[in-house]
Amino acid sequence: MQIIRQLAPLRDALNELRKRNKRIGLVPTMGALHAGHMSLVEAASEQCDAVIASIFVNPTQFGEGEDLDAYPRQESADAALLEEANVAILWVPTVEQMYPDGYATNVSVSGVSNGLCGGSRPGHFDGVATVVAKLFNQVRPDAAFFGEKDYQQLAVIRRMARDLDFAHDIVGVPTVRDPDGLALSSRNAYLDSKQRAQAVALPDVMRDAAAAIVAGGDLDQILKEATCKLLSSGFQNVDYFELRNAETLEIMNKYQEPARLLAAAHIGSTRLIDNIAVTPG
Ligand code: PAJ
Repeated sequence: MQIIRQLAPLRDALNELRKRNKRIGLVPTMGALHAGHMSLVEAASEQCDAVIASIFVNPTQFGEGEDLDAYPRQESADAALLEEANVAILWVPTVEQMYPDGYATNVSVSGVSNGLCGGSRPGHFDGVATVVAKLFNQVRPDAAFFGEKDYQQLAVIRRMARDLDFAHDIVGVPTVRDPDGLALSSRNAYLDSKQRAQAVALPDVMRDAAAAIVAGGDLDQILKEATCKLLSSGFQNVDYFELRNAETLEIMNKYQEPARLLAAAHIGSTRLIDNIAVTPG
């Protein structure tokens, strides 16, 4: 695996792969890799000839007072995992490479960025869309892989790719969970053992709410009760617990397919997010 930190050698290495007609798969990450990230690498390996993974803790998608400085950084452990998974190139740009002096451009995707995480983290999806657009231009992949774990992020990236004429495939990969159901996240590392035990309430409550919605219960009532259950299970605060159209992310006042339940809640200072499909059966 080549570890590359500058754009010129990245482009050279990619040109070599393209000359050999390799289908290139891109897996963008912020590092602190776990089995969720590695499932994207596996999907990319299955669908492509050469996998490029990137690690960049993107400052522009972190808000004031968020965990940019505390965000876990463990490049050598991450590199070992990626090497083991046969990744061809690990792209690790510096902040100066990504945002050189005078950098002035922002990609903002309206509509799908509004509400949910976009509501509780203003500017977050501008930061994500901008850095992902840059990664797309830097790597020019044939396919790029993103987790359904960050469902709104996936929707924002799909919209951006359509709007800005990125022609490559955007592949969504199902959420990987711990055996008790908690979605894997780099931020789970912030939880102490009591909080970790409480955190399982998030997927549990979401699963119950989805079943109640499909069974035809009163939507408002179900969402309110779910929020109360989270608060009584150790979550201090629920940013949102909402039913949305699974494709457009428009708010739903009445259950109709395709639907997705999305939630974000805090345990201590750790913010957890999750989402599930709401479908019969
Ligand atoms: P990061 O949080 O490191 O996640 C990188 C990718 O891994 C994202 O596509 C995310 O959805 C996926 N992922 C995380 N946990 C997962 C899980 N449990 N199951 C499946 N996939 C999972 O998301 C970002 O970084 C950044 O916003 C990024 C897209 C890299 C732009 O900076």
